[in-house]
Amino acid sequence: MNVSEWRGEFPILQNKNYLNSCSLGALSHRSVAWVRLFQEEWHAWGASAWYETWMARLESLRAAAARLVNGDADEIALTASVSAALASIASCIDYGPRRRVVISELDFPTLGYQWMVRPDVEVVRVPSDDGATIDAARFAEAVDERTAVVATSHVFFKTGAIQDLAPLSKIAHDAGALFVVDAYQSAGQVPIDVHAAGADVLITGPLKWLLGGPGIAYLWVRRDRIEPLRPTTTGWFGALDQFAFDITNFEFKNDAKRFEMGTPALPSVHAALGGHEIIEEAGIEAIRERDSALTERLIEQAAAAGFRIRCAPDAGHRSAIVMLAHDDPGTVVARLAENDIIVDWRPGYVRVSPHFYNTESEVDDVVAVMTASPVA
Ligand SMILES: Cc1ncc(COP(=O)(O)O)c(C=O)c1O
Repeated sequence: MNVSEWRGEFPILQNKNYLNSCSLGALSHRSVAWVRLFQEEWHAWGASAWYETWMARLESLRAAAARLVNGDADEIALTASVSAALASIASCIDYGPRRRVVISELDFPTLGYQWMVRPDVEVVRVPSDDGATIDAARFAEAVDERTAVVATSHVFFKTGAIQDLAPLSKIAHDAGALFVVDAYQSAGQVPIDVHAAGADVLITGPLKWLLGGPGIAYLWVRRDRIEPLRPTTTGWFGALDQFAFDITNFEFKNDAKRFEMGTPALPSVHAALGGHEIIEEAGIEAIRERDSALTERLIEQAAAAGFRIRCAPDAGHRSAIVMLAHDDPGTVVARLAENDIIVDWRPGYVRVSPHFYNTESEVDDVVAVMTASPVA
């Protein structure tokens, strides 16, 4: 991979040591050009641009999302956020026969919230024994014939640990439950294959490692699961004959677009296309290799400097989210920002997330500054 060439795509890298891609991937010239094109088409055509190009762009984005997860474009719905996609799926299920939804205690809270707000659902949180990963055996203990859904992360936002999805899929399916994956923190840094994972539903979006910014998310639903899933939150984009404008009849679209609601965020759609182009050109396998090398370097240096690190025990299950334990992470993050090093923090931890466009010396610098100027 030609890292210095890729670095030229991202203006922020000229001014900052940007190590926060798990919050927001860097903005590229490519995405800016796509958004500019969208604006120019808006100037040129007004609403006709929908028919000239914008509808086709939605298709292009669905196709890019499908390639990313090894699915098909008609299995992809564009949604407003990961939360919106989860809410749509949660709304499809009759919890009468099975009232339990099994998640893990390391998942992003929005995953739990979807079901915690439903009085007809009991949420079961699978515990982590080591604080970084969840043993599949713990899921097996929690899932039974009362379970409607098993929902968990591909990569945990809190620890960067990568979960092996296939065994979890088997646990869910053996009990007759739906298997839902939150892949927001893996897409763009770790390869995803929905079929190898045994997922029924996989949700992700371009905001983070895919370098596409906020405003849109992707909901993949396995083809044979689409028909039986009938959301009770919907909109005209989900209607079979959307442009009939018939308020007396509603029928769902036959493909995953049935999960779509209303007019999508077009600037976001265009920014996301730029991100996908870059990820495809750089290649997800090469990105994983480089992100992994930067991660291991960071972990090694931080450990040598005496920091405690919360991560999976083996490199194969570690992603590029590195949590360095600290008593006062907010102050450290502010100190690093004064040195033009952009990282983030969560309670008790400084969170560092390098991506393929970072250099080895940028990774070294974060540990060097943290070591040279300890926070009292
Ligand atoms: C793993 C994971 N899931 C979900 C979310 C929230 O997604 P959204 O804001 O699109 O609902 C985040 C946000 O950072 C996340 O890291």
